[in-house]
Amino acid sequence: MAGKRDFVSMRDVRDDLVGLLELAGSIKNRTKAGEPYEPLRGRSLAMIFEKSSTRTRVSFEVGMTQLGGHALFLNPNDLQLGRGETIADTARVLSRYVDGIMYRAFKHENVRELARNASVPVINGLDDREHPCQTVSDLFTIQERKTPLDGLKLAYVGDGNNVCNSLLLGSATVGMDMTAACPAGYEPDPELLREARQIAKDRGATIEVAHDPHSAVRGADVIYTDVWVSMGQEREKEEREKIFRPYQVNTKLLDHAKPDAVVMHCLPAHRGLEITDEVMDGPRSIVFDQAENRLHAQKAILARFLAGV
Ligand code: CP
Ligand code: NVA
Repeated sequence: MAGKRDFVSMRDVRDDLVGLLELAGSIKNRTKAGEPYEPLRGRSLAMIFEKSSTRTRVSFEVGMTQLGGHALFLNPNDLQLGRGETIADTARVLSRYVDGIMYRAFKHENVRELARNASVPVINGLDDREHPCQTVSDLFTIQERKTPLDGLKLAYVGDGNNVCNSLLLGSATVGMDMTAACPAGYEPDPELLREARQIAKDRGATIEVAHDPHSAVRGADVIYTDVWVSMGQEREKEEREKIFRPYQVNTKLLDHAKPDAVVMHCLPAHRGLEITDEVMDGPRSIVFDQAENRLHAQKAILARFLAGV
């Protein structure tokens, strides 16, 4: 619909990602200083979760409250959506009540369908293809530790999944080099990869896909990993856990990175699989700061998309 702006993909913030990160910083500073900031006073956000969530659910809900608004948690099984009401009709109806809709979906196409039919902004809270709120927050976290982003190198180790896809677009957009080390057959989405490479070229950055995790982390400033079995892939668990074993982020792997490299994970983590306790609880891990920043970064996303801040 005309006149509203959705955040369905990292593509949607290509032109103002730097500004969005700045906004996240100023919102975080205000929050830490105890200064009220309520651009969403009286506004409501509907949140539809087809999959489980800890961070996304709580940070969006708390974020809306802190911005002066209100969030509603909606389980599709309790909505008429679960009984066959269409996504399009759900979008039309919710748009009559709320000022924005956050949707965590199994299928990317369903997020697009909701966005096409809603007259209020739709925010992607993760789907099978992307996790854009995570990437905005992650870039903000990296920027807090290492600036400028432009010229840094991020090594993603593991599954070329939704988190990896959004990170590719985000890294390219800010001019950060990124190498994704994934097993053969588990590489990122080819279309998004092509697009990320194109964006990176314009920014003088490089986007690589490799199979060897040790050479991928060489010279990296940031090592990033995520689960080997994403939500919806539970049936592939046994096979994936075998294939991904050489991609574990452990101290041996970190020996190949820069001594001051930080370790990130979007969480939830499966300790002992994609990341060891030693690394996750070690001095280079910034995973809990990373989790906290979901709140600050999403407040910036909400302020921008729902109120045009
Ligand atoms: N990282 C993340 O999105 O976590 P949740 O699944 O807990 O929301
Ligand atoms: N790739 C993971 C991310 C969870 C936040 C999943 O989709 O399950």
